[in-house]
Amino acid sequence: MNSSNTYSPIGVFDSGYGGLTVLKEMVAVMPGYDYLYLGDNARAPYGSRSFDTVYEYTLECVRHLFNKGCELVVLACNTASAKALRTIQQKDLPLIDPKKRVLGVIRPTTEVVGNYTKTHHVGIFATSGTVSSGSYIIEIEKFFPELKVFQEACPMWVPLIENNELNNAGTDYFVKKHLDALFSASGKIDTIILGCTHYPLLKPVIEKHLPAGITLLTQGAIVSNSLKEYLFRHPEMETCLSKTGKRDFFTTDSVTQFDTHASLFFGQEVKSKHLHL
Ligand code: DGL
Repeated sequence: MNSSNTYSPIGVFDSGYGGLTVLKEMVAVMPGYDYLYLGDNARAPYGSRSFDTVYEYTLECVRHLFNKGCELVVLACNTASAKALRTIQQKDLPLIDPKKRVLGVIRPTTEVVGNYTKTHHVGIFATSGTVSSGSYIIEIEKFFPELKVFQEACPMWVPLIENNELNNAGTDYFVKKHLDALFSASGKIDTIILGCTHYPLLKPVIEKHLPAGITLLTQGAIVSNSLKEYLFRHPEMETCLSKTGKRDFFTTDSVTQFDTHASLFFGQEVKSKHLHL
């Protein structure tokens, strides 16, 4: 526990189930902390929603996580990281509580992508919202200006994953369609970021159609290792976090449905509670 013995879990947020692929790795890398997951399933997917809507929904959920004791929240959702994070960090946090922190998943990914590519041509698969925000291009430019970045929006992938339609001809079609489009933009791509936290579930299907020698980067381990380093650099935050190994799960929609699907993403059984927005 922290010095005052209060419950202060690491908050992990996603529009639905995708953030569980990140939480799974966080728990593996840093098992001692308490974690509180919130999936806004009632309003998912966020991928094709406007900036204002994603910002409004994300901020509302972040406030709920703060009210439940979180000092630190990770937006384990690229769409929310792309469309809401900066405003929350710059405009809202100073008013809510300047000591609280909200982090995203795009920056840690863009900090390391240059270490994987030899051709300097990198592909991004993401939701329409993440692609249109340009966040990956802006962030990669800061760390690896020599890279050429090619983005491909895959609006059908999240619905296919959320409906557990992973092994069928329709999914093969939509995976191949976007792979072909990405490689027709550049045949020199040797590294692809799966820039949506739902997409790791499609990894086996993507790999089936992927040319040999291409690195597929998923975000769970990258984000978890980055968070571990962040906590090492920020002892004032690290000491606030409670450490009893507790995991709590909240969904804004049906708990029965959440518990059935969540284990596919988290790799273990999940018992959630309902959060009324
Ligand atoms: N998991 C979210 C992401 O990483 C997207 C899901 C959605 O469209 O709501 O972008």
